[in-house]
Amino acid sequence: MKVFITRKIPEDGIRILEKEGFDIEIFPEDRIPEKEEIIRGVKDADALISLLTDRIDREVIDSAPKLKVIGNYAVGYNNIDVDYAKKKGIIVVNTPGVLTDATADLAFALILAATRRVVEGDKFVREGKFKGWAPLLLLGKDVWGATLGIVGAGRIGQAVGHRAKGFNMKIIYYDKFRRENFEKETGAEFVPLEKLLSQADIITIHVPLTQETYHLIGKREFALMKDGAILVNTSRGEVIDEEALISALKNGKIFSAALDVFENEPDIRKELLDLPNIVLTPHIGSATERTRRKMAEMVCNDVARVLRGEEPINKV
Ligand code: GLV
Ligand code: GLV
Repeated sequence: MKVFITRKIPEDGIRILEKEGFDIEIFPEDRIPEKEEIIRGVKDADALISLLTDRIDREVIDSAPKLKVIGNYAVGYNNIDVDYAKKKGIIVVNTPGVLTDATADLAFALILAATRRVVEGDKFVREGKFKGWAPLLLLGKDVWGATLGIVGAGRIGQAVGHRAKGFNMKIIYYDKFRRENFEKETGAEFVPLEKLLSQADIITIHVPLTQETYHLIGKREFALMKDGAILVNTSRGEVIDEEALISALKNGKIFSAALDVFENEPDIRKELLDLPNIVLTPHIGSATERTRRKMAEMVCNDVARVLRGEEPINKV
């Protein structure tokens, strides 16, 4: 049976597929494949392992008559037409859980970087501008004791909340569901989005991208925020209306922002690049050696299960 993988992933996963004796084809180049290249790879494949950068739409699915399973090497799966895959009897699996802590760590790194102007400070020093300690140099905002607004308290949002406790933060959250265990563990308070926006000093986004969350944070939401708020996004870029974000950063409505994800990855708006009060990272939420190895094992194990005729563990 043939497994097509759209990019080289850690060996730990490949070894699992090799042990099963599958015929493994990996897209050979170190870049995101074009759609035609994915179609060429899946034509005769029984399984596809895709990345969040691959759009797996009807056309791709229709070009793979033997396909039984799509394993997305990510927790988010907005890149796949899951309904259509289901209709065609194709199982979709992903990698939840194993990347929760790595992503929450990055969200916290961005919270600290955006509040304490870490990247601006680094640039300042490198440019030779540091002329000695100064009372008003690069003043930021406090993290300790601040109110953290978590938008989307799933696994990752909750993990950020647990970290926030160590910083004596007051936690408020908004979600489709109440998360009572999380409330018990952290003292977090469930609030409507409007209230979260108006009370949080720091807002961190952890919702999946769906039709409902597209531009969840736009012009109206920025207007509701506290003056001088800080916004961090490690989920999907399309959740924030970047035009509205750029205005809010330019006119000083919010103090700063940090983004690991963008509306039109990998293209970044020029205005974002030119703004000093934003930290930008290249979608590296899950990018630790251990996490990426675990993700590879997880997705390959589940693909192997489906191809052996067993139930997968992480079915979407
Ligand atoms: C990364 O963004 C993922 O969804 O795994
Ligand atoms: C993703 O894993 C989430 O539930 O936050």
